[in-house]
Amino acid sequence: MEQYIIKGGNPLVGEVVIGGAKNAALGILAAAIMSDEPVLISNLPDVNDVNVLLEAIAETGAVVERKNRHTALLNGRTIGSYVVNNNFIKKMRASYYLLGAMLGKYHHAEVALPGGCNIGSRPIDQHLKGFRALGATGKIQNGMIVVDAKRLVGARIYFDKVSVGATINVMLAACLAEGRTVMENVAKEPHVVDVANLLNSMGANIRGAGTDVIRITGVKSLHGADYSVIPDQIEAGTFMFAAAATRGDITVKNVIPKHLDCLTSKLREIGCEVSEFDDAVRVVCKKRLHSTSVNTMPYPGFPTDMQPQMSVILALAQGTSVVTESIFENRFRYVDELTRMGALIQVEGNIAIINGISQFSGTQVAVPDLRAGAALVIAAMAADGVSTLEDIEYIKRGYEDFAEKLVSLGGIIEIVETEKEIQKFRLKVGCV
Ligand code: UD1
Repeated sequence: MEQYIIKGGNPLVGEVVIGGAKNAALGILAAAIMSDEPVLISNLPDVNDVNVLLEAIAETGAVVERKNRHTALLNGRTIGSYVVNNNFIKKMRASYYLLGAMLGKYHHAEVALPGGCNIGSRPIDQHLKGFRALGATGKIQNGMIVVDAKRLVGARIYFDKVSVGATINVMLAACLAEGRTVMENVAKEPHVVDVANLLNSMGANIRGAGTDVIRITGVKSLHGADYSVIPDQIEAGTFMFAAAATRGDITVKNVIPKHLDCLTSKLREIGCEVSEFDDAVRVVCKKRLHSTSVNTMPYPGFPTDMQPQMSVILALAQGTSVVTESIFENRFRYVDELTRMGALIQVEGNIAIINGISQFSGTQVAVPDLRAGAALVIAAMAADGVSTLEDIEYIKRGYEDFAEKLVSLGGIIEIVETEKEIQKFRLKVGCV
């Protein structure tokens, strides 16, 4: 099994270029098959979740042509199957976007119940509520979610919970429903806006994405388009926080600084210097940071996907911090691993109380999920000595060339598989 091996203690310094947003790309790829004309998507991140979704889309019969590492041409004209059920797709969450896309276009879809990171119960009741409001039936049958409609008719839908997935999924279906849909209490994340922008460029009529209320007037069909995915705010945030944790100086390029506002202000609050440019941010950390409190919220609040990385910084900060996880109930599974590096964290329900220590010490840890994995890598980069991280396939779901990018910033990290390779690394870095 592949592992990361990391020799920590170096400040990370330099420039890093951020790729396309994984979570936007997943919605966008599903939306692309709603047209019977070619849709060219660029700035796709080359990460496992995106590649698995592309495979699943190809299995429906759609044209999926990889033009290069970051560009794919899709055409839904040749779709012959509305059933998506392979072993890989069961492991990812965003497979459910194919429900909204195919329900809108074909009035029928069957998709294996989604998996994804084990960070909480992750129900899909709000997705089904939206589909039902549009006139569809939805049921779970033999591990599949089956949605079906004779007609899809626009409706007023109030979501009981702010959900990124439900907002995008119902928006997809409503684009091709008859008449007007009003979606209230929707998610405002940049990727919701990005999917809406792609759909509008395909001829949809969606207004209000990025606010609490999305209004859609259904159209008969969608045409081809040429679209570039927005930069990944979580990848960007991860490198910003890596600078903070290692007392480094990183310029994070190809970002939309506005999408990072909340991260920027938290970093400034605890003592980092952050400069913003047109499409870059620079984070400089020269001294030990200080404690704060953080509460995860839907956008524009503090993103749950940055909570583990934030905890790593606070575990090294002066004083006691409180981190409240309000979105997913099972998102502190990395705490045990961080404790093995010396962190002093006590979890009570959805609250972590963190007493900052001055230094982590490297050790062997296991990655529990995608973002926690990135956080543990940052921790290992900051730690004294050598760490090994198992189960790094989680990280590959969402970060392209993570190790390579860290190396370009002066990080000492390699992928190893055998005890011999681990010993070789230890000899090389002088830690035997
Ligand atoms: C998406 C992101 C994920 C991020 C999350 C919150 C993708 C592929 N994943 O996940 O990285 O952490 O947004 O920003 O884009 N909920 C319900 N019923 C539903 C749907 C959701 O109760 O039908 C609840 C969830 O349990 C959770 C909250 O709503 O407590 C938010 O979930 P949601 O925004 O839907 O997350 P995902 O779309 O799964």
